[in-house]
Amino acid sequence: MNALPDLPVSESRNPDELRLVLPQEAAPLDLSAVFGNSQEVEIEIGIGKGRFMLLAASAQPDRNFLGLEYARPYFEQSLARIAKRNLKNVRLAHVEAFSFLRDRLAGESLAACHIYFPDPWPKKRHHKRRTGRAEVLDQLQRVLKPGSLVRIASDHADYALVIRRVFADHPGFRSVDFDAAQWEIPGMEEYTTHGVTNFEIKYRREGRPITRFIWQRV
Ligand SMILES: C[S@@+](CC[C@H](N)C(=O)[O-])C[C@H]1O[C@@H](n2cnc3c(N)ncnc32)[C@H](O)[C@@H]1O
Repeated sequence: MNALPDLPVSESRNPDELRLVLPQEAAPLDLSAVFGNSQEVEIEIGIGKGRFMLLAASAQPDRNFLGLEYARPYFEQSLARIAKRNLKNVRLAHVEAFSFLRDRLAGESLAACHIYFPDPWPKKRHHKRRTGRAEVLDQLQRVLKPGSLVRIASDHADYALVIRRVFADHPGFRSVDFDAAQWEIPGMEEYTTHGVTNFEIKYRREGRPITRFIWQRV
């Protein structure tokens, strides 16, 4: 298997990974203070190995990107990858997403949300862990600005149906028509021909069908 093209590593490798990591204290965040500017902030829930974060943040330096990941190995791997690129507009949090949205973010503080290949948790007793559940949408509705988009992709047909129903039933969101071009990161086509996340690359290679959604916070 050929190595995937990745972004070039900055010559001035950033030794300070800590700069990228959000403080752990319980208080709600002042995102302008966290990023050091008042640019719009987009969030990704479940960043995995961080590919989307580093591509999107590289392509759009005039926007900020906040990545959430609760699995320590993935979090550490993303942190190391992103720190090498010396990106100023990324912050990462080693947290569980629902409680982070609920406890750490102010109302209408985010401009977009990305959820790529969320874990399907197929067993019934694990459904309460799903990102696609009403109480998570309640929090997304609260923290997103009106008009913000939520982009979701899933390889799991049953879970995709659940996600569609949960969003369709929620008064805070409406479905948005879209075309394939809206799944590209502008200027990053060289790196994203096989997918914008590591799981997308893997699943496309395996030929798995992928369901995509874009929902808008009304
Ligand atoms: C299937 S992986 C997809 C990773 C990445 N989005 C991609 O497409 O390559 C799902 C990721 O979401 C993370 N995750 C799942 N539930 C989470 C939660 N409640 N809070 C934070 N991260 C979560 C997992 O640890 C895992 O890294």
